[in-house]
Amino acid sequence: MCGIVGYTGKKEASNILIDALKKLEYRGYDSAGIALWNNGKINIARIKGKVNDLKKEITGNGNLKGSMGLAHTRWATHGVPSERNAHPHRAADVVVVHNGIIENYLELKEKLKKKGHRFLSDTDTEVIPHLIVNHIREGLNFIDSVIATLKELKGSYALGIIREKKRVMIAAKKESPLVIGVADGEYFIASDIPALLDKTNRFIFLEDDDVAVMQDGKLSIFNIDGKKIERPVHTVHWTGAMAEKGGYKHFMLKEIFEQPRVISDTLIGRIKEEKGVVEFEELKLPDITKMKKIWMVACGTSYHACLIGKHMFESILSIPVETDIASEFRYRNPLVRKDEMLILISQSGETADTIAAMKEGKKRGAYTLSICNALGSTLARESDGTAFTHAGPEIGVASTKAFTTQLALLFLLMLHTGKKLNLLNSDEIRKNIGEIKKIPHKIQTILDMSPTLEDLARTYMKFKNFLYLGRGINYPTVKEGALKLKEVSYIHAEAYPAGEMKHGPIALIDEHLPVVVLSPGDQTYKKTCSNIEEVITRQGNLLLFTDNPDHEMAPKAKNTFFIPETIYPLQPIISVAPFQLFAYHIANLLGTDVDQPRNLAKSVTVE
Ligand code: F6R
Repeated sequence: MCGIVGYTGKKEASNILIDALKKLEYRGYDSAGIALWNNGKINIARIKGKVNDLKKEITGNGNLKGSMGLAHTRWATHGVPSERNAHPHRAADVVVVHNGIIENYLELKEKLKKKGHRFLSDTDTEVIPHLIVNHIREGLNFIDSVIATLKELKGSYALGIIREKKRVMIAAKKESPLVIGVADGEYFIASDIPALLDKTNRFIFLEDDDVAVMQDGKLSIFNIDGKKIERPVHTVHWTGAMAEKGGYKHFMLKEIFEQPRVISDTLIGRIKEEKGVVEFEELKLPDITKMKKIWMVACGTSYHACLIGKHMFESILSIPVETDIASEFRYRNPLVRKDEMLILISQSGETADTIAAMKEGKKRGAYTLSICNALGSTLARESDGTAFTHAGPEIGVASTKAFTTQLALLFLLMLHTGKKLNLLNSDEIRKNIGEIKKIPHKIQTILDMSPTLEDLARTYMKFKNFLYLGRGINYPTVKEGALKLKEVSYIHAEAYPAGEMKHGPIALIDEHLPVVVLSPGDQTYKKTCSNIEEVITRQGNLLLFTDNPDHEMAPKAKNTFFIPETIYPLQPIISVAPFQLFAYHIANLLGTDVDQPRNLAKSVTVE
């Protein structure tokens, strides 16, 4: 889970690479490095720390200049974060940056050691330049040496490779993301599109086992057998400004505030209010009437979207949905079959476990539908169908706008399915469309209350543990609220179904435990009131979130935050917003690294 970038062209590469690398820091930020090719010499700088530290290290260093180069930001897997484990790695005149994991590196390392190769790091990556050098010494040319090396590797890789002797940059990929940015006489490589948006909007999405060779202003792509292949150039409509903070202190805050707009963007073109239908014109959905079962599978926040999607389908359509965490799904015997639909949800489209779940579903004959935000991502390319959330680039490591657009899209999919199965008529669809159209405005009213949530954050920031309670469709919402708090503030928060509290967590309750309860005035209202009583009786510090202005427990709460009302299946899209802001403000007040919390990476491309 690292970020890699590369550049070859006529311009000075160092600034281009540092700039692009900063935009990839969300993928890993424990160490960084850069290699620059200058007239047949490659100079390297590596540091333990962030890209800004790397920038300081190379500023004013006349050796670190050149018109071709590679750079890397790391999230350690093999070998502690340190200068010697930072990429690029070098053997003789071959220099490599890598994202992924080489599973058979120990075995390869032993063989190479016997041939006299000396290793300087603890990483799996370092075997790659050594293998290439080994093949060059055996008499193969550079490209064939790379191809021969790739055939020896087991595991995943996105690679950038350069060599002193020749002005050529090679990129290769297998199960780790890599795009090529195309501009006039110059080529870029990067782990994802936003890193390059201010340089180009033309991209080639490499497929697994592709090897791209950039030389003399030309690009050739080969398959692993050395046969030349063609890949189309796509024009993307995201802009560089979308990947900037735009005056906000953090990306997370900017992305929370973007939610009204990006939810509208996700609805546009799909809702046909007059006709009373929801259409996914971009998507060839299979005949839904033939689908015997629906599954929803994902990781982390996207998994919370699955749990909410299940409630949407079950509460409105009475269609059962099975949900699972991708890393569990892939290693059990998921009884998914032909004529079943497996919905995979992912912001990045690069989460290794979710991709593996998609592959498992495909193998078993299911139709795989991905709900994805990142264009050209592996999940989007390899699923049978993809519906894109239009959240734009999400840079903050904690997912916010991707989540609410996933919920909006799931709601649309539920309406579409309801129509196809004759479970909803046009009037019912129209009514539901009317409700979702009001969501952006309702979220805006919460965003306008950000100062109130900041005051609450100030009140609660010193507590060390939180319990979040919710019921029904709002249990996953409180799970998401607790996850946000943990991720960005490092405060322990546990989410529980309110009715389950008495089976254990109730033992934790005293005046030192803030209990955050989400209690709308829906069918769960009365039961949740009883659970709140149980908290109050034990002197729990109640922080209540509700859409019921007359909530009977509000007088007993230490603090109450009111949220706008909506229909049951849409409640989470609104009620998660105050939790996002609450977590954000606590983290900001505590001074944590909000956009790049410790130990986390945005897309988890390893198991
Ligand atoms: C939480 C968060 C993670 C991701 C998870 C899945 O804020 O961002 O839990 O939701 O890693 O990532 P995607 O959606 O890219 O598959």
